Amino acid sequence: MTRALNFAVVGLGMGGHHCRAIRDAKGANLAAVCDTDKTRLRKTVREYGCTGFERYADLLKDPDIDVVNIVTESGYHTQMGIKAAKAGKHLIVEKPVDVTPAKIKKLDDVVKATGVKCGCIFQSRMENCNIMLRKAIKKGAMGRIIGAHAHLPWFRADSYFEGPHGPWRGTWKLDGGGALMNQGVHTIDLIQWLAGPVESVCGFYDVHNHDIEAEDQTVAILKFESGALGTLYATTCCIPEGAQRVYMYGTKGSFSKHGSNLELYEMGTPAQRKRMMALFGGKKKVDAIGKDPMAVSADGHLLIVEDLVKAIRYDREPVIPISSAKHAVEIACAIYKSARTHKEVKVSR
Ligand SMILES: NC(=O)c1ccc[n+]([C@@H]2O[C@H](COP(=O)([O-])OP(=O)(O)OC[C@H]3O[C@@H](n4cnc5c(N)ncnc54)[C@H](O)[C@@H]3O)[C@@H](O)[C@H]2O)c1
Repeated sequence: MTRALNFAVVGLGMGGHHCRAIRDAKGANLAAVCDTDKTRLRKTVREYGCTGFERYADLLKDPDIDVVNIVTESGYHTQMGIKAAKAGKHLIVEKPVDVTPAKIKKLDDVVKATGVKCGCIFQSRMENCNIMLRKAIKKGAMGRIIGAHAHLPWFRADSYFEGPHGPWRGTWKLDGGGALMNQGVHTIDLIQWLAGPVESVCGFYDVHNHDIEAEDQTVAILKFESGALGTLYATTCCIPEGAQRVYMYGTKGSFSKHGSNLELYEMGTPAQRKRMMALFGGKKKVDAIGKDPMAVSADGHLLIVEDLVKAIRYDREPVIPISSAKHAVEIACAIYKSARTHKEVKVSR
């Protein structure tokens, strides 16, 4: 029998979700956690009965650790990921992989050179509804995509940006931005995953109702490589907050989603429409994630952990490699650049 792989989680805010996902995942064992915050570290060690490291360097010296989950502030992901890869550890990296395409490339280069596996987190890609939408689009059920639009009317209280772990949020250096790069990056990734790569963007952003450096509201127009046009809205200012909305239109049909609820599915055969609506339509519950960052389900994380175990065992690419996760950051950075320069910006790939 093959042994379970030993995982270690560094960064114990959202890292708590990683611990739960690893505990419940097949083929994975939560062997250690690491945080410079002693209170978080003690609490997690007590909860999981695993080894605790205050120093990341000590964690990397542990020969029993196979995989390191990097769940620290976004702007630290590359430097910490490179250290882990050079120590021979496989990686799972939280979203966004890092805050600039240049930093992400550095991590990708080292991952390739060392031969370790690196799986990235974009849990929306693990949701059945999104997987089935993508399959239908790929099979041509929508025809040629004409429009892809997304709206994220979220809310974050001032307290989210305060306290010992708040001040990095909404900063350019460590968060890479605000509502768009932190909260909105999932939505950017989802629409580019469904509608294809983005060629150029025009954007506007500003700080509207928080005491932060970067932005709490961004609006952008997207031109996809396919020729489709789209719009994107992301904020953390909405009172009351609402759920993510995605609308896509093609030459043969369209769909719309509100949170995890499929509102409209008008493509494919009548039987396919009925099935999709029966599976994913008619949900009344509003997703709590609109205002509570910790209301994220750990289900997607669990699937990404199990996928990495298989990627290591069978020596294949993880389901979300760096090469696939980086485009969302390329798009976000291009939107910020467009807003600063008042010009349409080509998205580098
Ligand atoms: N997938 C999702 O839905 C989701 C949700 C929330 C956050 N995130 C991502 O998770 C990451 C962390 O976000 P968070 O909200 O948990 O932040 P956080 O500030 O609450 O937690 C980060 C932790 O990392 C620790 N840390 C930093 N440097 C360290 C080091 N060198 N050694 C050991 N510990 C160190 C800090 O002490 C802190 O406890 C970010 O990249 C964020 O974008 C993803």
